[in-house]
Amino acid sequence: MSRPLSVAVAGLGTVGGGVLKLLRDNAAVVSARAGRPIAVTAVSARDRSKDRGVPVAGLRWYDDPVALASDPAVDVVVELIGGSDGPARALAEATIGAGKPLVTANKALLAVHGAGLAAQAEARGVPLAFEAAVAGGIPVIKALREGLAGNRITSVAGILNGTCNYILTQMRERGREFAEVLADAQKLGYAEADPSFDIDGIDAAHKLAILAALAFGRPVSFEDVHVEGIRRVSALDIAFATELDYRIKLLGIARQTEAGIETRVHPCMVPRSAPIATVDGVFNAVVAEGDFVGRVMLTGRGAGEGPTASAVVADLIDIARNRVTPVWGAAAEALSRVPSLPISAHVGAYYLRLMVVDRPGVIADVTAILRDMGVSLESMLQRGRSPGEAVPVVLVTHETPESAMREALDRIGALPTVMEEPTLIRIDAG
Ligand SMILES: NC(=O)c1ccc[n+]([C@@H]2O[C@H](COP(=O)([O-])OP(=O)(O)OC[C@H]3O[C@@H](n4cnc5c(N)ncnc54)[C@H](OP(=O)(O)O)[C@@H]3O)[C@@H](O)[C@H]2O)c1
Repeated sequence: MSRPLSVAVAGLGTVGGGVLKLLRDNAAVVSARAGRPIAVTAVSARDRSKDRGVPVAGLRWYDDPVALASDPAVDVVVELIGGSDGPARALAEATIGAGKPLVTANKALLAVHGAGLAAQAEARGVPLAFEAAVAGGIPVIKALREGLAGNRITSVAGILNGTCNYILTQMRERGREFAEVLADAQKLGYAEADPSFDIDGIDAAHKLAILAALAFGRPVSFEDVHVEGIRRVSALDIAFATELDYRIKLLGIARQTEAGIETRVHPCMVPRSAPIATVDGVFNAVVAEGDFVGRVMLTGRGAGEGPTASAVVADLIDIARNRVTPVWGAAAEALSRVPSLPISAHVGAYYLRLMVVDRPGVIADVTAILRDMGVSLESMLQRGRSPGEAVPVVLVTHETPESAMREALDRIGALPTVMEEPTLIRIDAG
């Protein structure tokens, strides 16, 4: 058999430890598929004395991960440190600069600096592989870039953050508020001590930026993604969603319209009949729509040691086999220049929940504003009676331009009979 592929792993945390275990436990299967053994020969992490669950004693240890790139005995570098800048970025640039293939699970790095890194990789003619960066164990990068390569992709959407999906599922199943469920998720290890990257939608937006680049063959552009998280989703809205036959999901959606490409991450009212509505708990899902293939949905575990290691090793096998694909599916000069659209250009249906004083004439004031703004209503729901007190009223609109909806909302929010800031949730099947 040929010489082993010599791999350096930077970062020996959840994913790095998982990669070492997979390569040890599945060595025979991996080397058969790679056509040669894949051997980790060098590693880097911060704490040399930490138990990694796998022996690292015989491997070359580097305190400085960037030094892995210039180790002459290393063929490929796997970056599993994390963060869009700092040592992860320095290592990525040094690896590609040294003419070596780079494998990374780092969505933040790719979303923010992916355009530059891809250009550098193309110029140097080295692979840059990142299957683990989006939806963990689900092979969505390969599916979009290679499996669906014959299609024009019209949309790609997904449940891209397991922490948010777990929280929203628990809120629904247990009828509990966001803050309580988040605290429980932190105790169980499903949410980080600082959960803001997850619950504010940033992590999902990093992944969506990458998916949009692949789906539409254009350079990655994180700053164009509209991002809203799930902090403001209430138990009351989840209960109304159930009553109206929707599920609230944090979706990332990239869609081609006549005017350009919209990329947005926000809580969505998803019709319960949509396949993505049934994806619960920590599971992720990605739905892509192609002109010849139609709709394709992939679902599975989006994080964790095993699923993420599975994706990293798939990339290593491709590199061992010399299977190389351009980073965004096409060479830089063939990438698309279709413009990104701001959220104000979105057109869709909306769920609007108001807390209004229970008094005659209040609803008439609200519907007059909607009529003036050209917003037509599909349905309205009012629950409970409590004269003189605040009661919830839910309105579901037909397709409406976001700009009209926003202006209507400002006017409605200013009515003296509207007691809280109105809640607006976009309706989308993904
Ligand atoms: N966890 C997941 O399920 C998952 C899923 C998909 C993608 N990812 C991505 O995979 C990457 C790694 O995530 P993770 O969950 O494995 O992170 P993690 O458990 O926090 O591990 C990070 C590792 O990087 C090492 N490290 C940090 N700073 C370093 C430095 N300056 N020099 C050398 N090593 C350094 C740490 O060393 P010490 O151990 O010595 O502190 C640790 O081993 C991130 O980009 C993440 O977004 C993770």
